[in-house]
Amino acid sequence: MNARCNRSTKRPILEAALLALASLAVASSAVAYPGGTPDFQTDVAPYCAACHASTAEADLAGLGERAKVELPETKHYAAILAGAGNYAEVPEAERAKLVELLAAVDRNSTIMLEFPPSVAPGETFQVTVKVTGGAGPSVGVGLVDRPHRFFAKPASALGWEVVGAPTILGPKGPQTAWIERRPEREGRDVTFVNVDGVHSSADQDKWSRAKVIFTLRAPVTAGDYPLVGAYFYGTETGTAMTTRMHPEYGPQPMGGALGKSGRVKFSKQAVITVKEGGRKPAPVADIAP
Ligand code: HEC
Repeated sequence: MNARCNRSTKRPILEAALLALASLAVASSAVAYPGGTPDFQTDVAPYCAACHASTAEADLAGLGERAKVELPETKHYAAILAGAGNYAEVPEAERAKLVELLAAVDRNSTIMLEFPPSVAPGETFQVTVKVTGGAGPSVGVGLVDRPHRFFAKPASALGWEVVGAPTILGPKGPQTAWIERRPEREGRDVTFVNVDGVHSSADQDKWSRAKVIFTLRAPVTAGDYPLVGAYFYGTETGTAMTTRMHPEYGPQPMGGALGKSGRVKFSKQAVITVKEGGRKPAPVADIAP
């Protein structure tokens, strides 16, 4: 099947599916994506976030012009500047300022990994994912194998085995409500979590911070293994101009559940070397007398 055929036959089906999702979102707060994924406690691959824009063209490397379609300028800001749909509510003179505020959310939304450069085969170790920004009220954090919107696999597919529930440290400390929605008997060893209680404000230049600590067991075969953090966040509830308070569901983006105000962003790609005697024991001199 060629790309053109793909586009003409599959797009309407995708749009219909998204519309169905959006109507579900209205029916139940637990389903909506603005507000995160309160219902899904499992591994996630970034392709799922069809509505979100990508913050870097490189995240769609190899896809030619298709990559540009996913950038905020094309996918999100063009509708704002044209005053399309709900954005007609924003006076024309304020639209450029709105885009600048949303771009500030992107600049201040960062994701980075802390990881050991090398580990022994089968060794258990920790990887800390640090995120800043994200409009809130929640953000999503995942571990994948490459910084690619459509080709990334959950990190577990590469042999990075998650051991136990990830530790979620929100802006106000530890959180367990989201991960505990996954029954304990299923194991809470997933590569994706939501962090709740996030509240960033581009208006006040205030940015949330959160951390997720994953305990991983290294693959048993020696080699260099990649690891990448995937960050799912919203932008429009990060400024009063595009935040609509819903009496039941809380802050909602002006662009709506079908809008393009979500983002997918990746950390730099980490490479962890798995080798015998991988992690060096602390030098004797480092141990306090
Ligand atoms: C139907 C469109 C749509 C799809 C599909 C979608 N999202 Fe979103 N998502 C949104 C919108 C719109 C926002 C942005 C809210 C904002 O701008 O503040 C968002 C925001 C988010 C947020 C941040 C929540 C918040 O409070 O701002 C997370 C986490 C998220 N999405 C995860 C996902 C994941 C994981 C998937 C795939 C399972 C996904 N989304 C698929 C529309 C979608």
